[in-house]
Amino acid sequence: MGAVYNSEAMPILDAHMLEFFSRSPEQTRRIGMRLGGSLKKGDVVCLQGELGAGKTTFVQGLAQGWGSLDSVSSPTFILVNQYRRADGEKLFHLDAYRLDSVPEAEELDLDSMLAEGALLIEWPERLGNLIPAENLWINLDHIADEHRQMNFKANGRRFDDLLDGVRHAMVGGA
Ligand SMILES: Nc1ncnc2c1ncn2[C@@H]1O[C@H](COP(=O)(O)OP(=O)(O)O)[C@@H](O)[C@H]1O
Ligand SMILES: [Mg+2]
Repeated sequence: MGAVYNSEAMPILDAHMLEFFSRSPEQTRRIGMRLGGSLKKGDVVCLQGELGAGKTTFVQGLAQGWGSLDSVSSPTFILVNQYRRADGEKLFHLDAYRLDSVPEAEELDLDSMLAEGALLIEWPERLGNLIPAENLWINLDHIADEHRQMNFKANGRRFDDLLDGVRHAMVGGA
Protein backbone atom coordinates (compact mmCIF):
# COMPACT_ATOMS: atom_id res chain seq x y z
CA MET A 1 0.00 0.00 0.00
CA GLY A 2 1.21 3.51 -0.74
CA ALA A 3 1.35 6.46 1.64
CA VAL A 4 -1.99 6.87 3.36
CA TYR A 5 -2.40 10.13 5.19
CA ASN A 6 -4.46 9.20 8.17
CA SER A 7 -3.25 9.25 11.75
CA GLU A 8 -2.45 5.54 11.75
CA ALA A 9 -0.05 6.00 8.88
CA MET A 10 1.96 8.63 10.75
CA PRO A 11 5.35 7.44 11.95
CA ILE A 12 5.09 6.09 15.46
CA LEU A 13 7.71 7.57 17.73
CA ASP A 14 9.07 5.02 20.14
CA ALA A 15 8.73 5.20 23.90
CA HIS A 16 12.05 7.03 24.20
CA MET A 17 10.87 9.93 22.09
CA LEU A 18 8.36 12.71 22.30
CA GLU A 19 7.40 15.38 19.81
CA PHE A 20 5.84 18.63 20.93
CA PHE A 21 4.75 21.81 19.18
CA SER A 22 5.08 24.96 21.22
CA ARG A 23 3.01 27.94 20.18
CA SER A 24 4.56 30.59 22.42
CA PRO A 25 7.61 31.36 24.56
CA GLU A 26 5.37 30.97 27.61
CA GLN A 27 4.45 27.46 26.55
CA THR A 28 8.10 26.56 26.03
CA ARG A 29 8.88 27.90 29.51
CA ARG A 30 5.99 25.92 30.98
CA ILE A 31 7.29 22.64 29.52
CA GLY A 32 10.71 23.55 30.89
CA MET A 33 9.20 24.11 34.33
CA ARG A 34 7.65 20.65 34.37
CA LEU A 35 10.98 19.06 33.57
CA GLY A 36 12.89 21.31 35.98
CA GLY A 37 10.79 20.13 38.90
CA SER A 38 12.09 16.56 38.41
CA LEU A 39 15.77 17.30 37.74
CA LYS A 40 18.34 15.79 40.08
CA LYS A 41 22.05 15.98 40.64
CA GLY A 42 23.90 14.21 37.82
CA ASP A 43 21.15 14.69 35.22
CA VAL A 44 22.21 15.91 31.77
CA VAL A 45 19.85 17.84 29.48
CA CYS A 46 21.13 18.76 26.01
CA LEU A 47 19.46 21.53 24.00
CA GLN A 48 20.24 21.59 20.33
CA GLY A 49 18.90 24.17 17.89
CA GLU A 50 19.84 27.24 15.91
CA LEU A 51 20.12 30.74 17.40
CA GLY A 52 16.65 31.86 18.43
CA ALA A 53 15.24 28.34 18.50
CA GLY A 54 14.29 28.79 22.15
CA LYS A 55 17.00 26.94 24.09
CA THR A 56 17.54 29.68 26.66
CA THR A 57 13.79 30.31 26.91
CA PHE A 58 13.37 26.63 27.80
CA VAL A 59 16.19 26.88 30.35
CA GLN A 60 14.43 29.84 31.98
CA GLY A 61 11.36 27.72 32.67
CA LEU A 62 13.49 24.79 33.67
CA ALA A 63 15.47 26.78 36.24
CA GLN A 64 12.26 28.24 37.62
CA GLY A 65 10.66 24.79 37.97
CA TRP A 66 13.83 23.49 39.58
CA GLY A 67 13.53 26.26 42.18
CA SER A 68 16.42 28.52 41.22
CA LEU A 69 17.06 31.57 43.37
CA ASP A 70 18.93 33.15 40.46
CA SER A 71 17.52 34.33 37.17
CA VAL A 72 18.69 32.87 33.88
CA SER A 73 20.67 34.74 31.29
CA SER A 74 22.52 33.51 28.26
CA PRO A 75 26.02 32.65 29.41
CA THR A 76 27.43 34.53 26.45
CA PHE A 77 30.81 35.57 27.78
CA ILE A 78 31.13 33.11 30.59
CA LEU A 79 30.73 29.55 29.41
CA VAL A 80 28.96 28.24 32.46
CA ASN A 81 26.33 29.79 34.70
CA GLN A 82 25.56 28.31 38.06
CA TYR A 83 22.17 28.61 39.73
CA ARG A 84 21.47 28.02 43.41
CA ARG A 85 18.50 26.70 45.30
CA ALA A 86 17.46 27.29 48.91
CA ASP A 87 18.41 23.71 49.89
CA GLY A 88 21.96 24.24 48.60
CA GLU A 89 21.55 22.18 45.40
CA LYS A 90 23.16 23.50 42.22
CA LEU A 91 22.20 23.67 38.57
CA PHE A 92 24.79 24.28 35.87
CA HIS A 93 24.00 25.93 32.53
CA LEU A 94 26.65 25.56 29.89
CA ASP A 95 26.50 27.34 26.54
CA ALA A 96 29.09 25.89 24.19
CA TYR A 97 28.36 28.34 21.36
CA ARG A 98 31.65 30.12 21.80
CA LEU A 99 33.77 27.04 22.21
CA ASP A 100 36.33 26.92 19.46
CA SER A 101 37.52 23.37 19.76
CA VAL A 102 37.06 20.10 21.54
CA PRO A 103 40.47 20.47 23.29
CA GLU A 104 39.17 23.73 24.75
CA ALA A 105 36.03 21.88 25.81
CA GLU A 106 38.13 19.25 27.54
CA GLU A 107 39.13 21.88 30.07
CA LEU A 108 35.53 22.00 31.20
CA ASP A 109 35.26 19.47 33.95
CA LEU A 110 31.78 18.10 33.29
CA ASP A 111 32.27 15.25 35.76
CA SER A 112 32.83 17.52 38.71
CA MET A 113 29.82 19.62 37.72
CA LEU A 114 27.69 16.47 37.56
CA ALA A 115 28.91 15.39 40.98
CA GLU A 116 27.50 18.66 42.31
CA GLY A 117 24.35 19.24 40.34
CA ALA A 118 22.29 18.82 37.18
CA LEU A 119 23.72 20.13 33.91
CA LEU A 120 21.98 21.87 31.00
CA ILE A 121 23.95 22.22 27.79
CA GLU A 122 23.22 24.53 24.86
CA TRP A 123 25.10 23.67 21.61
CA PRO A 124 25.95 20.17 22.93
CA GLU A 125 27.11 19.09 19.47
CA ARG A 126 30.18 21.31 19.99
CA LEU A 127 31.31 19.11 22.86
CA GLY A 128 31.54 15.97 20.74
CA ASN A 129 31.94 12.82 22.76
CA LEU A 130 32.52 14.71 26.01
CA ILE A 131 28.74 14.59 26.43
CA PRO A 132 27.76 11.73 28.74
CA ALA A 133 26.09 8.93 26.75
CA GLU A 134 23.07 8.99 29.06
CA ASN A 135 21.13 12.21 28.68
CA LEU A 136 17.88 13.81 27.71
CA TRP A 137 18.42 15.29 24.26
CA ILE A 138 16.07 18.02 23.06
CA ASN A 139 16.03 19.43 19.55
CA LEU A 140 14.32 22.74 18.96
CA ASP A 141 13.32 23.97 15.53
CA HIS A 142 11.99 27.32 14.42
CA ILE A 143 8.79 26.67 12.46
CA ALA A 144 7.21 30.13 12.40
CA ASP A 145 7.19 33.36 14.46
CA GLU A 146 6.05 31.86 17.74
CA HIS A 147 5.91 28.26 16.67
CA ARG A 148 8.65 25.83 17.64
CA GLN A 149 8.93 22.11 17.24
CA MET A 150 10.55 20.26 20.13
CA ASN A 151 11.81 16.70 19.80
CA PHE A 152 12.76 14.91 23.00
CA LYS A 153 14.91 11.79 23.04
CA ALA A 154 15.73 9.91 26.23
CA ASN A 155 19.08 8.14 26.24
CA GLY A 156 19.08 5.82 29.24
CA ARG A 157 16.58 4.61 31.86
CA ARG A 158 16.81 7.63 34.11
CA PHE A 159 15.90 9.85 31.17
CA ASP A 160 12.98 7.65 30.13
CA ASP A 161 11.57 8.37 33.59
CA LEU A 162 12.17 12.11 33.20
CA LEU A 163 10.55 12.06 29.77
CA ASP A 164 7.52 10.23 31.18
CA GLY A 165 7.07 13.09 33.60
CA VAL A 166 7.12 15.61 30.75
CA ARG A 167 4.70 13.48 28.75
CA HIS A 168 2.21 13.35 31.62
CA ALA A 169 2.50 17.09 32.17
CA MET A 170 1.59 17.63 28.52
CA VAL A 171 -1.40 15.33 28.73
CA GLY A 172 -2.37 17.22 31.86
CA GLY A 173 -2.47 20.37 29.75
CA ALA A 174 0.82 22.23 29.88
N1 LIG B 1 7.37 29.01 21.01
C1 LIG B 1 8.50 29.64 21.37
N2 LIG B 1 9.37 29.03 22.19
C2 LIG B 1 10.52 29.64 22.55
N3 LIG B 1 10.89 30.89 22.16
C3 LIG B 1 10.05 31.54 21.34
C4 LIG B 1 8.83 30.95 20.91
N4 LIG B 1 8.21 31.84 20.11
C5 LIG B 1 8.99 32.91 20.04
N5 LIG B 1 10.11 32.78 20.79
C6 LIG B 1 11.17 33.79 20.92
O1 LIG B 1 12.34 33.31 20.28
C7 LIG B 1 13.49 33.74 20.99
C8 LIG B 1 14.28 32.52 21.45
O2 LIG B 1 15.47 32.99 22.01
P1 LIG B 1 16.40 32.08 22.91
O3 LIG B 1 15.57 31.30 23.87
O4 LIG B 1 17.47 32.96 23.46
O5 LIG B 1 16.99 31.09 21.80
P2 LIG B 1 18.36 30.30 21.78
O6 LIG B 1 18.86 30.16 23.18
O7 LIG B 1 17.98 28.98 21.16
O8 LIG B 1 19.30 31.07 20.90
C9 LIG B 1 12.99 34.56 22.17
O9 LIG B 1 13.01 35.91 21.82
C10 LIG B 1 11.58 34.04 22.37
O10 LIG B 1 10.73 35.01 22.96
MG1 LIG C 1 20.74 30.56 24.09
